[in-house]
Amino acid sequence: MLSSSLLLALTTTGSATNLFVSSYSGEITSLALSESNGTVSLDTTFSNAGCGPNPSWLTVDPSRGLLFCLNEGLTSPNGSLSSFTINRNGSLTRVQNETTISGPVSGVIYGNSAGKQAIGLAHYTGSSLTSYDLDGDGQFHFGESFTYSLSKPGPDAARQDSPHPHEAVTDPTGQYILVPDLGADLVRVYGIDFETLNLTELSPLNAPSGSGPRHAAFYNPYSVASEDATTFFYLITELTSTIITYSVTYLPNGGGLTFTQTAQVSTLWLLNHNRINAPAGVLISPDNRFLIVSNRNSTLFSLPNPDASNNTQIPSDTFTTFELQLDGRLVFVQAWPSGGLYPRQFSINPSGTLIAVGNQLSANVALLSRNPATGLIGEPLARIPVKGNITCVVFDQAGAGSA
Ligand SMILES: *[C@@H]1O[C@H](CO)[C@@H](O)[C@H](O)[C@H]1NC(C)=O
Ligand SMILES: *[C@@H]1O[C@H](CO)[C@@H](O)[C@H](O)[C@H]1NC(C)=O
Ligand SMILES: *[C@@H]1O[C@H](CO)[C@@H](O)[C@H](O)[C@H]1NC(C)=O
Ligand SMILES: *[C@@H]1O[C@H](CO)[C@@H](O)[C@H](O)[C@H]1NC(C)=O
Ligand SMILES: *[C@@H]1O[C@H](CO)[C@@H](O)[C@H](O)[C@H]1NC(C)=O
Ligand SMILES: *[C@@H]1O[C@H](CO)[C@@H](O)[C@H](O)[C@H]1NC(C)=O
Ligand SMILES: *[C@@H]1O[C@H](CO)[C@@H](O)[C@H](O)[C@H]1NC(C)=O
Ligand SMILES: *[C@@H]1O[C@H](CO)[C@@H](O)[C@H](O)[C@H]1NC(C)=O
Repeated sequence: MLSSSLLLALTTTGSATNLFVSSYSGEITSLALSESNGTVSLDTTFSNAGCGPNPSWLTVDPSRGLLFCLNEGLTSPNGSLSSFTINRNGSLTRVQNETTISGPVSGVIYGNSAGKQAIGLAHYTGSSLTSYDLDGDGQFHFGESFTYSLSKPGPDAARQDSPHPHEAVTDPTGQYILVPDLGADLVRVYGIDFETLNLTELSPLNAPSGSGPRHAAFYNPYSVASEDATTFFYLITELTSTIITYSVTYLPNGGGLTFTQTAQVSTLWLLNHNRINAPAGVLISPDNRFLIVSNRNSTLFSLPNPDASNNTQIPSDTFTTFELQLDGRLVFVQAWPSGGLYPRQFSINPSGTLIAVGNQLSANVALLSRNPATGLIGEPLARIPVKGNITCVVFDQAGAGSA
C-alpha cells in the first residue's frame, strides 16, 4: 500500500515523470514513471546513443528542459560532453557534442540561475577540471581547464598514481565549486567570478592520506545558505570508506573556505562486513534531515537472507541513512538493500518518497520507496533491466537531487 504522499508526488505535475539512465553500453535510456491503482511502474520509452560510447554522468536542468551527458571515453584518449533537449514524451534531441579532456565523470551547473551559466566537469583519468559556458538553449563552448599532476603517488598505488577529480559540486551559496580528488587526497576549491564565470583556484581541503575523496555534500542545519550560516561538509572517502564531517567557515571577499574536521565514521557505521566496501554517492534528503550514502561491494544483503521480512530477492549492496543533528553529528538510522549490486549513483524525488538507483553490476534501475518522516528506505516498488554497466539515473523534476 502506498502512502498518500507518494501518490501526491506522482500526480501533482499532471504529466508523467521521466527518468534518464546512462550506461556504459552507449545509451541514455528514458523511463516513464507512472502510477495506477496504487501500483508504481517503470517503462522503457526511448533510448538515445547520442552521448558517445561510455556515458558516465547526467546533469539535468529542469527549468530549461535540458540534459547534459558526459561520455567517459573508456577506450579513447578523449571524452565528450553532449547536450539534449528533453521532449514532452521523454525522448531526447541532441543539440551539441564536443570532445573534451579524457574521463569526465561528474558535472555541475554553476553561475546565475536566471542569467549566465556554465558547467564544470571533473575528469578522473584526465586529472582535470574543465568548464564550458552555456547559452541556455543547449549550446555550449569551452571555457577553462585546470590540469594537475602528483610529484609522488599516494599510498594506494593503483588508484593514486595521479590526481583523479571525481566530482564537481557547488557550495550552498553558489560562490564556489568543490572537487574531491581521489588520487591526490584533496578537495580542490575554486571561486566563481559571476561576470565571466571564470574560476580561481583557492586553498584546497587536505583529506587524510590514502583516504581517496570521492563525493561530498553540504548541510546548513537551519536551512539558511549564507556565508554567516552554520555550514557542514560531509566528505565520502572511497578508499577508507568513511564519512568525514567538517565545519566550514567562509573567508571574507570570496577568499575561500576553511574546514575543521569534527568527526569521522564508517559509511557502514558499526556493521560487520567481510568485503572491501567502496562508498559512491552521498545525498541530503530534500527536507534537509537525513544523509544517505550508497555503498558498493559491501554485499551485506547477499542471498540467502534468513530474514524473510528483509528479503531483497536479489543480491544487494547497501544504502546507509543517518539523521543529521543541528551540531553536524550523524546518528545512524538504517542499512538497507539497494536492490542490486554496485549502487554507483542515486537520485531522490522532490518529495523524498522515491529513490532511484543505478545498480551498476546488476544492470538494473531500482525504484525504492522511502518514508520522508522517518528516513527509512523500503522495498523496491519497481525494478527494470537496463543494458550494460549503469552509471547514473536522474529524475526530470525540479527539486530532485542526485549524487
Ligand atoms: C485496485 O487495487 C485494489 C487493492 O489492491 C484491488 O482490489 C482492485 O482489484 C484493483 N483494481 C483494479 C482495476 O486493478
Ligand atoms: C561525440 O564526441 C566524442 C568525442 O569526440 C565521440 O567519441 C562521440 O562518438 C561523439 N558522439 C557522437 C554521437 O557522434
Ligand atoms: C517524441 O517527441 C519527439 C519531439 O516532439 C517527436 O519527434 C517524436 O516523434 C516523438 N516520439 C513518439 C514515439 O511519439
Ligand atoms: C584530447 O586529449 C588530448 C590528450 O590528453 C588533449 O591534449 C586534448 O586537449 C584533448 N582534446 C580536447 C578537445 O580536450
Ligand atoms: C577568463 O578565462 C578565459 C580562459 O582562460 C580567459 O581567456 C579570459 O581572459 C578570462 N577572463 C577574465 C576576465 O579573467
Ligand atoms: C570487493 O570485495 C572483495 C572481497 O573483499 C575484493 O576482493 C574486491 O577487490 C572488492 N572489489 C572492489 C571493486 O572493491
Ligand atoms: C535486515 O537485515 C539487516 C542485516 O542482517 C539487519 O541489520 C536489519 O535490522 C534488518 N532489517 C529488518 C527490517 O529486519
Ligand atoms: C560491467 O563491466 C564489467 C567490467 O568491465 C564486465 O565484466 C561486466 O560484464 C559488465 N556488466 C554488465 C551488466 O554489462
